[in-house]
Amino acid sequence: MSNLLNNNQAILKNLKKGEIILFDSFSKSKDYIALIENIIFSGISEIAGQDSADEIKSIGLDNLHKVFPVDYKPFLDNFIAKNIRKISLDFSVEFSDEVLNLKDDEYYIYDNVEVRINYPINEAINSTLSFSDYTKLDLNNYKNVDQEIDKIKKHNNNLKMAASFNERPQHKEKEKYFDKIPYAARRSAPHIDIWYGHPIESLNLWFGVAGCTKENSVFFYPDAFGSKLKYIDGRIAPIDNYNFSKPYCPEIPKGHTLIFNPMNLHSTHIGTANKTRISLVGRINTQYPTFSKTFVNGIYEAEPSIWYNSSDIRNKKYDNSFEINRGDNVGKVGHLLEEQSSINIVKKIYFDKKLDAGKEYYVDEKKQLIDENKFQLVFTNTEILVVRKENNFYAIGSKCPHSDVELNQGFIEDENIICPHHLLKINYITGDTSCTKLKVKTYKIKENNSKIFLHT
Ligand code: FES
Ligand SMILES: [Fe+2]
Repeated sequence: MSNLLNNNQAILKNLKKGEIILFDSFSKSKDYIALIENIIFSGISEIAGQDSADEIKSIGLDNLHKVFPVDYKPFLDNFIAKNIRKISLDFSVEFSDEVLNLKDDEYYIYDNVEVRINYPINEAINSTLSFSDYTKLDLNNYKNVDQEIDKIKKHNNNLKMAASFNERPQHKEKEKYFDKIPYAARRSAPHIDIWYGHPIESLNLWFGVAGCTKENSVFFYPDAFGSKLKYIDGRIAPIDNYNFSKPYCPEIPKGHTLIFNPMNLHSTHIGTANKTRISLVGRINTQYPTFSKTFVNGIYEAEPSIWYNSSDIRNKKYDNSFEINRGDNVGKVGHLLEEQSSINIVKKIYFDKKLDAGKEYYVDEKKQLIDENKFQLVFTNTEILVVRKENNFYAIGSKCPHSDVELNQGFIEDENIICPHHLLKINYITGDTSCTKLKVKTYKIKENNSKIFLHT
């Protein structure tokens, strides 16, 4: 890394090719950490009082979840968003000028630079706020958070989507994916950023503020870079039989910055480390932003595409933002997406009946199954995944309890199947997961005369 520091062309070329680079050399990283922490602690003190802020200061922001209730977090997110804009724009420019050596260049900074705070799943899942509840909160009423939350709970105590959201049919997939869990426990599906309407050929910056460990942060499927990836419209995730490779999970220590080409397939951990993850996330474009045609024609939900020029931010002209119309600026995705998607072929055995409790189902001759690492039993009402460990088989429900993802896409590590969307670890023998509140039902597999049976 260090031998490249003065050679922005080499860095930019490598990033363009999909390399994911961690920088620890930004001279102002401590100043930015202090500025960001200052805003976070002001927010905590406004919302939960000075005593809470002091307590969190003493135990560290990566322990925020131990003191600051998960249902207060939307108010803190809002407080930070309102106060961070100039700091985050300055960060994007000062970092890029210095570390990427772009100080003599004109480039573009995306408006939605933001601080992201993610609670560990074991805390997040305790939240009582659904997505629809969240949309009804008056986030500016942060002096009366308890009152605000009670008001919402009284009016709407279920996990249904807000009506306006539900009326749009293209949101159905998303509803299925996101809304069985509280708002705070949601995570985006693995994606490349053009699926969200973000530009082609941009660079994403992740500045570590707290708790961005290997088990807790953004992760990547580097093998997917450059492949033609088909996504599920609405849910914005790779198709259900996409073959995920082993993920690359970098750590982003406090004050370090991870840069990556957002055409890398990426996602974030579900948060099974007992830490709050906090990062500042930004995006720059070294050329005038253009957008994917697929996005322009298909997807509905990106925020307006608002940008700044680097020279304006250098000159502290924070009000000179401008909007780029995606439809007028369609670019070529080009060579990056010309290959075929990688398809996961898992043997499926179909039963033309419902799975009932207390029954036995004949599956197959053992010799027909012994070469399969995993296979699926498809009943009319449910699906079961069978995992083989040496000579033994173990049966488990085939959906991830977090967001209903097909576990046949997961990879096996020891006695666990790892969900590829946010890396929840599921023990396929016990059904326990790395989140104490999430479990998967297991079933017995019995062998009789070299034949395999499922017992429910
Ligand atoms: S869907 Fe999130 S970990 Fe499985
Ligand atoms: Fe992304």
